[in-house]
Amino acid sequence: MRKIHVDLEKQVDESYDINLSSGFIEDTLSHYEDAFFLADSTVYAFYGELFQGRRTFVLEASEKAKSIESVISVLEFLHDGGCRRDGTLVAVGGGITGDLGGFAASLYMRGINYVQVPTTLLSMVDSSVGGKTGVNFLTSKNNIGAFHQPKAVYIDTDFLKTLDDDEFLNGMAEVVKYGAIFDADFFDMLLEKKAEVIARNQDVLLEIITECCRMKAEVVKEDEKEQGVRKLLNFGHTFGHAIETDSGFAVKHGFGVATGMYLENMFGLKEGYCSEDSVKRLSEILDAYGFDKEYKIKDKDAFFAALSADKKADKKGLTVVFASEIGKAEWVSGIKADLVKDFYC
Ligand SMILES: NC(=O)c1ccc[n+]([C@@H]2O[C@H](COP(=O)([O-])OP(=O)(O)OC[C@H]3O[C@@H](n4cnc5c(N)ncnc54)[C@H](O)[C@@H]3O)[C@@H](O)[C@H]2O)c1
Repeated sequence: MRKIHVDLEKQVDESYDINLSSGFIEDTLSHYEDAFFLADSTVYAFYGELFQGRRTFVLEASEKAKSIESVISVLEFLHDGGCRRDGTLVAVGGGITGDLGGFAASLYMRGINYVQVPTTLLSMVDSSVGGKTGVNFLTSKNNIGAFHQPKAVYIDTDFLKTLDDDEFLNGMAEVVKYGAIFDADFFDMLLEKKAEVIARNQDVLLEIITECCRMKAEVVKEDEKEQGVRKLLNFGHTFGHAIETDSGFAVKHGFGVATGMYLENMFGLKEGYCSEDSVKRLSEILDAYGFDKEYKIKDKDAFFAALSADKKADKKGLTVVFASEIGKAEWVSGIKADLVKDFYC
């Protein structure tokens, strides 16, 4: 047998910067006058001046609209606007806009440049970094997509001033997740500074967002394609996605993840994957920020079908992440869906 190895590793330098501050976005975007813009409709309504005179596709951000049909509309927009292979798509919005825009950018002419301007807390601390792009398909979340790294990420915390409380909390779930899986001191700081966080103290928020991006960048650097350590970022997401799906997306991503983290660790406690202390401290922080720890399943069959259809599941079973201790996590593969079903019902 002859073998030819096609070594593609590190052939292309995909490095980029995450730029964080406040009040700089207008100036920065003026350097992108030839770009194509994908704007979240709410962001467009609040910050219309950013898009004046620019080729802009306005997207109604909802999980239902995070679809292949919307991707096709963006591709048509790029095509009709004469976007070339060296063109750039700038996605300005939350995780839905960023994921969808990134996926369209990965497809158009086999990949054009894209730039992330996250405008929600969740997208600042998580979805804008790391190059995971995609949309929902049929009954599953994010189950078609591509890895396509942005050329740059610009995080302007001023955008957070118009975010409603629910969306802010939605992002805080992912912030708590970083502390729970990677950094106990950061986790404790989130509890200590809860009042400042809730009051949206700009300095505290910038500190928190910077820290989350630093952790995510480290993970992505080590494991871009989620073969190892990046899996840990899925803490809370196995149950979380099933909750989102079962609720018909009435439960937002972050809220699903918050409940998911608790349920996964409760399951982990029962199966011996995590300590009582980690469940207790997780419970404490979720209560402090006002997250639900329980979820009442609407349709058991659909819920467990969504769990089994999780992208991390394979024929051996589910892969679930546990915060074994606060600040430390592990993933376990091959967990039988029936075991989870018995625990839950
Ligand atoms: N790619 C990844 O690695 C990754 C990671 C985590 C989550 N995600 C995905 O991210 C999505 C969730 O992202 P999200 O929570 O940002 O949701 P989102 O994009 O739906 O935005 C939430 C809401 O906030 C509004 N909004 C956005 N910016 C605003 C602003 N500055 N002021 C006022 N309103 C604003 C939007 O119109 C929307 O109604 C999910 O689809 C999830 O799957 C992806």
